[in-house]
Amino acid sequence: MNPIRSALRPSIASYQASIHPPTLASTSVLGRRPLTTPTNPSRAKVQEGDPHVREDPGEALEGELIAERMPSGEEMFGFKMNEVVAKTGTDMKVPGRPIYLDMQATTPMDPRVLDKMLPFWTEQYGNPHSRTHAYGWEAENAVDEARQHLADLVGANPKDMVFTSGATESNNMIIKGIAKFHQSKRKHIITTQTEHKCVLDSCRYLSTIGFDITYLPVQPNGLISLEQLRNALRPDTSLVSIMTVNNEIGVIQPMKEISETLKTWAQETKNQKPYFHTDAAQAIGKIPIDVEEMGIDAMSISGHKIYGPKGIGAAYVRRRPRVRLEPLIHGGGQERGLRSGTVPAPLVVGLGEAARLAKREMSLDHARIKSLSDRLVQGINSQVEHVIRNGDPNGYPGCVNLSFAYVEGESLLMALKDIALSSGSACTSASLEPSYVLRALGAADDMAHSSLRFGIGRFTTEAEVDLVVQRIVAVVSRLREMSPLWEMVQEGIDINKIEWSQS
Ligand SMILES: Cc1ncc(COP(=O)(O)O)c(C=O)c1O
Repeated sequence: MNPIRSALRPSIASYQASIHPPTLASTSVLGRRPLTTPTNPSRAKVQEGDPHVREDPGEALEGELIAERMPSGEEMFGFKMNEVVAKTGTDMKVPGRPIYLDMQATTPMDPRVLDKMLPFWTEQYGNPHSRTHAYGWEAENAVDEARQHLADLVGANPKDMVFTSGATESNNMIIKGIAKFHQSKRKHIITTQTEHKCVLDSCRYLSTIGFDITYLPVQPNGLISLEQLRNALRPDTSLVSIMTVNNEIGVIQPMKEISETLKTWAQETKNQKPYFHTDAAQAIGKIPIDVEEMGIDAMSISGHKIYGPKGIGAAYVRRRPRVRLEPLIHGGGQERGLRSGTVPAPLVVGLGEAARLAKREMSLDHARIKSLSDRLVQGINSQVEHVIRNGDPNGYPGCVNLSFAYVEGESLLMALKDIALSSGSACTSASLEPSYVLRALGAADDMAHSSLRFGIGRFTTEAEVDLVVQRIVAVVSRLREMSPLWEMVQEGIDINKIEWSQS
């Protein structure tokens, strides 16, 4: 274990013991020390003049306040506590580690989520499918409550939520499951060129066993054309799968308009409406989603993109009107028979709590993230020229994808090792491949290579954004100074008009 984390642990526990005397509910019958780390909203301190902090302390972000409750200045392994715990209160921020701006890859777990999960690993460890004793009943109740929170986040009926291991499994389950169930009459599927690999690969697999797949192109801003979608629909189309928020460029596809296009087409052509599935891994908890209003039949959800645990997700599968699909996993018949296997109660509880917090704090998170995102973009644009923003600028603000012209992509990444972010180049064993998403927008290979994705989240601070801006400005300027292309641009030569010799 990280020595700093283990150093923090006893200190957190003893401090919490002083502010939360053990209660019957939090102590086992054997009198063991409670293993939870309960946060305490009543200790919330609203910083004067901070527009992002709620005035009602009961509603304040408990997670932000852990720093307040840490014994300030106490030294452990050479680190001062108040240095170790960043302003946001997440103990994941440790000096010497890169600044984390890769929130589309994964998010840190919210400490409040961990609090909620801990008893289900240690004391309330029953199998939620055990019907004969209290251990099973309490786990089942907790799973039901979590299912309700998740359903509330997207306006769904909790009975329509099926727990899975994450969005990859949900996408596989829904796409392959619907395709196979309906294959005797309908063998055509529509998706887009910019989906996540797990959607594209599920479709690719189906194409090897006789299905016909249409990959819709996107416009230069990353949005699909509704007209192209309509033209692609066929009487044998069983499924249309279009992601809500793109994980590389943050573009938000128009869910409601897509479902209306499908409905209108079905009415006008007297064909059966294809099911509408969306991979909402990067959308739920970030932007408002309502499955009823948006006409979504099936949806994929991931826990670790919304400050919840890794290894848990869900598939929303509508029951009325019923979406019929063939299960991928057979066994004990759990989760409506669609996903057999013991439901992992602690992970589900974490996902439910993450969903509850996301619903409660969505507008606050969004406002903070938008303001940090604007600060980042303005900070860079005001000091660096020839920067292109990839994707529709009205997309999700926590995902900012920028290309830096006249900079070599690999050198850019190497020089920014103190910031954890993703680039538009995927390292394959042999070469740096430009991102297929940026290629689909029509970006030139060199611009895709020199692109960076900045992922801002709930725990990102202004100070981090300012540091990142400083580093980007310094690194891009230094790399350009070394670039012969940049020298030519400075001399006023239009390098697009140069005919390079092939020798
Ligand atoms: C849009 C999208 N879909 C699916 C996934 C896969 O999610 P999980 O890690 O839960 O399998 C991701 C994660 O990278 C994603 O961004």
